[in-house]
Amino acid sequence: MTSRFEGKRIYITGAASGMGQATAIQLAAEGAELYCVDLNSEGVQNTVDAIKDAGGKATAATLNVSVKDDCVSSIANAAETMGGLDVLLNVAGLGGIARFENETEQAWKLAFAVNVDGPFFLSQAALPHLLESKGNIVNVCSTAGLKGQAYMTSYVASKHALRGLTQTMALEFGKRGLRVNAVCPGGTKTAFLAAFSNITEDMDFSLIERNSLQEEMADAADIAKSICFLASDDASFVNGAMFAVDGGSTAG
Ligand SMILES: NC(=O)c1ccc[n+]([C@@H]2O[C@H](COP(=O)([O-])OP(=O)(O)OC[C@H]3O[C@@H](n4cnc5c(N)ncnc54)[C@H](O)[C@@H]3O)[C@@H](O)[C@H]2O)c1
Repeated sequence: MTSRFEGKRIYITGAASGMGQATAIQLAAEGAELYCVDLNSEGVQNTVDAIKDAGGKATAATLNVSVKDDCVSSIANAAETMGGLDVLLNVAGLGGIARFENETEQAWKLAFAVNVDGPFFLSQAALPHLLESKGNIVNVCSTAGLKGQAYMTSYVASKHALRGLTQTMALEFGKRGLRVNAVCPGGTKTAFLAAFSNITEDMDFSLIERNSLQEEMADAADIAKSICFLASDDASFVNGAMFAVDGGSTAG
């Protein structure tokens, strides 16, 4: 067990599943204390149980990241539990696939509520703690935050907004010792992919295919490694980066 995160107090959303779960487990193995939140109470408890079984330190809590007051009290609880906060990881997110004509207002609002409002509420609440610790934030964005992707209007627009949040905060707080970066995964084998499985015959498949370059998609653990790098002191001079972890699909 290495100790890259020994003494670090880390708040992570989306910790019940996929990338969030893999990242929480990796960070705990490297010495961090975790405050794990998710809408899925049972899932986040399972993650924390796995961390504790392996000898790590973690707390589980249920949170809907789209509710501002709950985000504020959740950050306060985390800071009290851990005695401060060094890193905020906004991993929770969702999306879906639909032809532009069929995209609903409900899907649009939900994508922005979870993918943008949540990171905004949590970043604002965590700010005083992170400025004090000279910590950092890593947002899980997407290659959908770097370019357009057909049939993903709400998701792509929300991830572009998350990119704006990331880079604006990086500029405003870089000189005050707070780094803000984003990981931009390409297709990754998690539960999230189920939401993108309803490709219909009236969609042009060649427009979907171009999002993937490699034969195999990434595993959650591949993305977790990059989240951990950006959150660590190894990335001490990395700020405002949109760090693509996509096997090269956005290279050209
Ligand atoms: N899997 C991919 O192909 C892929 C590609 C690029 C980016 N991403 C991004 O990666 C991040 C993690 O997704 P994943 O692939 O691990 O999927 P996942 O579905 O396994 O995990 C997402 C987690 O977010 C939680 N969540 C959803 N809404 C929430 C809410 N309102 N409040 C709190 N938690 C909520 C879910 O319960 C789930 O545990 C997301 O931001 C997603 O947009 C995924």
